[in-house]
Amino acid sequence: MKRIVIIGRGQVGSALASGLQGFEIIQWEGDIAELSAIALDELSPFAIINAAGKTDLAWCEANALETVRSNLEAPVELYERIVTHNKKNQAAIRFLHFSSGCIWDGPYDGEGKPFTPTSPVSPACLYSWTKAAGDALLLQRSAESVAVLRPRQVFSSIVSPRNTLSKLLRYPGLIDTPNSMSSVAVIIRTVETLLTMETGWNGSWNIYDKGHTTPFRVGELLAEAGLRDMPHRITKDALDTWHRPKRVDVILYDEHFERVIAPNPVEDELRNAIEAYKSALLEVSTVR
Ligand SMILES: NC(=O)c1ccc[n+]([C@@H]2O[C@H](COP(=O)([O-])OP(=O)(O)OC[C@H]3O[C@@H](n4cnc5c(N)ncnc54)[C@H](OP(=O)(O)O)[C@@H]3O)[C@@H](O)[C@H]2O)c1
Repeated sequence: MKRIVIIGRGQVGSALASGLQGFEIIQWEGDIAELSAIALDELSPFAIINAAGKTDLAWCEANALETVRSNLEAPVELYERIVTHNKKNQAAIRFLHFSSGCIWDGPYDGEGKPFTPTSPVSPACLYSWTKAAGDALLLQRSAESVAVLRPRQVFSSIVSPRNTLSKLLRYPGLIDTPNSMSSVAVIIRTVETLLTMETGWNGSWNIYDKGHTTPFRVGELLAEAGLRDMPHRITKDALDTWHRPKRVDVILYDEHFERVIAPNPVEDELRNAIEAYKSALLEVSTVR
C-alpha cells in the first residue's frame, strides 16, 4: 500500500485520515517544520498532504508572524526539502498542499466570470495573503511535484465549530450572495484521484461541488431539516459594516477539475451532509 503522511488534524486532515481508502496513512503529530529531511528519508512516503495551517481569520490578523510561518514559510521550506529529496531518490514524493478559494474576493472576477486556477489573486486579509503567496512560491519553485488544492467553505456531517454548517447555524441573518462550497466528500474523492493518477495530478486545482449556493439558502436547508429557525436575509453591505476581517464571496470554476472529478451538484451534497449532521447531533444528545 502507498504510504501517505497527512499534516494537520483539523477538519480536513481528520476527514482525509479516516476517509482515504486503500492507503497506509500516517498522521504527522508535530509541526510542519519538524518534517525534516531525515524524516523524509526515513518515512519515504508516496505523498505528503499538508492540511495544516492557521485558519481563524481574526486570529491570523492578531498573530501575523505565526500565521506567516505556519501558512507560508513552513510549507514552502518543506517543499524545498521534498524537491531536494526527489532529486536524490528514484521514487519522488508528491506534495498535496491545501490552499483556499479565499485568495480571491468576488463573487466574480472583474469581467463577471468565476475564478479559475490561473485568475490573478485578490486577497482581502492576511490569511488570504499567506495562502496566495504560498501558492505562488510553491509553483514557482517547481510545479512538478506539487498540487495546490483550493476548496471553499468546507462542510461535512461532523459536528465541529470548523464545519461551515455549524457556522451557518449560529447567525439569525444570512447574506444571499452566490458562493462556491466544498463538501469533505468531494475533497476526499479529489485527493484519492490525484493520488492514483500516473500523470497530470500536479498544478493548481479548484475543488468544489458543482454549481453554487448562498449562505441564506444553506440556512433555509438547515431550517427545513429542523436544525435552526428560518434565517432572514441581510445585505452584504450591512455585513461588511461589522465583519472583520472582511468576508469574501467566491465562485470557483475549473474545467479540468470538472472533467476529471465530475463533482455532484452542491445542493445534493448539502442535503446529504445536513441529514448526516442531524443524525450525528442526535447521537451526541442521546449519549449525553
Ligand atoms: N475549512 C475551510 O472552510 C477551508 C476552506 C478553504 C481552505 N481551507 C484550507 O484547508 C486546510 C485545512 O483546513 P481545516 O478546515 O482542516 O483547518 P483547521 O480545522 O483549522 O485545522 C488546521 C490544523 O492545522 C494545525 N496547524 C496549524 N499550524 C500548524 C503547524 N505549523 N504545524 C502543524 N499543524 C499546524 C492546527 O492546529 P492548531 O489549532 O493548534 O493551530 C489545526 O489542527 C487549511 O490550509 C485551510 O486553509 C479550509
